[in-house]
Amino acid sequence: MILIDGKKAAAELREELKVEVSELKSKYNKVPGLTVILVGEDAPSQIYVRNKEKSAKEVGLKSEVIKYPDTVEEKTVLNKIEDLNKDESVSGILVQLPLPRHINKQKVIETILPSKDVDGFHPMNVGNLSSGYESSIPCTPLGCYLMIKKIEPNLSGKKAVVVGRSNLNGKPMTQLLLKENCTVTITHSKTKDLKGECLKGDIIVAAVGIPELVKGDWVKKDAIVIDVGINKTEKGIVGDVAFQEVSKVAKALTPVPGGVGPMTIACLLKNTIECFKRSN
Ligand code: GUN
Repeated sequence: MILIDGKKAAAELREELKVEVSELKSKYNKVPGLTVILVGEDAPSQIYVRNKEKSAKEVGLKSEVIKYPDTVEEKTVLNKIEDLNKDESVSGILVQLPLPRHINKQKVIETILPSKDVDGFHPMNVGNLSSGYESSIPCTPLGCYLMIKKIEPNLSGKKAVVVGRSNLNGKPMTQLLLKENCTVTITHSKTKDLKGECLKGDIIVAAVGIPELVKGDWVKKDAIVIDVGINKTEKGIVGDVAFQEVSKVAKALTPVPGGVGPMTIACLLKNTIECFKRSN
């Protein structure tokens, strides 16, 4: 079984991006800039944002974090986004989710210029991705996609099963696999015979948020299994895949932690550089 090392893949991607940033710096005499907006005190968000900032600096991007208390008015956040939209030194804008309930998430997402939307959450980018046009691609599915392609460069005709239908993961993951000519089944918590559906997959991407849902006898021999889940349980952080059982049947599997997570952040840096290149 191949244990897909997301930390190593992310480190390799960051090295490539570092070179690219230094080339862009010579060519344009400026570097891509990433601005992250963080509202409130959500503990996981604080950790993610700190890691994003650290990684951005490591590859040579200009990086800035703007923090607001969770009592901040929606208008203040929207005005800040408008300012960043106009700021030429800002290539990419990311508003960390979740947001406090009094702030309308969709309004925030739609205020970010599509050309600076490094998350790929703006309806314009969602539409472009589903139409097969150039767009920002959400970081987590992009990271999953790159790891799958490393294991299996030719995905044409493969059966892929995506477990979970979120806008962040399941839906964009489906689009990426479709583009590679996979036959994709989208499943979710209400799917009948989820086990039977999973068993058909040459590739399984589990992004449903249910601890260790995908069992060993749900997985076809030699399938590639990508685990997007991060679930807090009594025995610590576990994914959506029962790791021990599945590792006995899969050809390749991502661990949690150390799989998808590091690649998500590296892909955010990649997206920031892509936004910079498209705007120059
Ligand atoms: N919160 C958890 N994952 C993400 C992500 O990919 N983007 C943003 N903006 N917030 C998140």
